[in-house]
Amino acid sequence: MTKNLSDESDVRASTAPFQAEFPYERDEEAQVTRREFCNFLGLTSAALFIGATGFATKAALDAREEVSLSAAQIGGAETLELNSSLNFNYPTERDSAILIRTADGAYHAYGQKCTHLSCPVYYSRDHQRLECPCHEGAFDAATGNVLYGPPPRALDTIEVEMRNGQVWATGRSASTPTDRG
Ligand code: FES
Repeated sequence: MTKNLSDESDVRASTAPFQAEFPYERDEEAQVTRREFCNFLGLTSAALFIGATGFATKAALDAREEVSLSAAQIGGAETLELNSSLNFNYPTERDSAILIRTADGAYHAYGQKCTHLSCPVYYSRDHQRLECPCHEGAFDAATGNVLYGPPPRALDTIEVEMRNGQVWATGRSASTPTDRG
């Protein structure tokens, strides 16, 4: 007949022979547990790293793609003085942009968001460059490349072209971290 293990002393008494034959060290269990935990952490970190790398690669590839957008005339651009700028929106009303006419008469346009933390940049006529007031970043007016400061990449570029004496925005492309300049 099977004895009923009704309390702690019964259980301890019945398991004592097994404990003698298969000794159990709590410290060793803790070591195994730590090892398993380290393995778990290692695998989890590797999985997260691989996932993050995949997303970063996809984002970089997407950013390199030049999005095909419909062209839009930039009103008032044709009368813009040399060494001055004009704000406009492109490709949507929510996308602020800045058109610059440099001292040589050329037009250049960029997204107005600083590539550091998205403060709006402005054109400094005195320094003939785009400047960000938030953390003293600056960009080249003719290329959008970073001149100095914390921005990690050049400004987004807006393609412009002349059509019948008027300036049109015809596309917009994002820079990548390697386009710092
Ligand atoms: S947001 Fe432009 S430099 Fe920081």
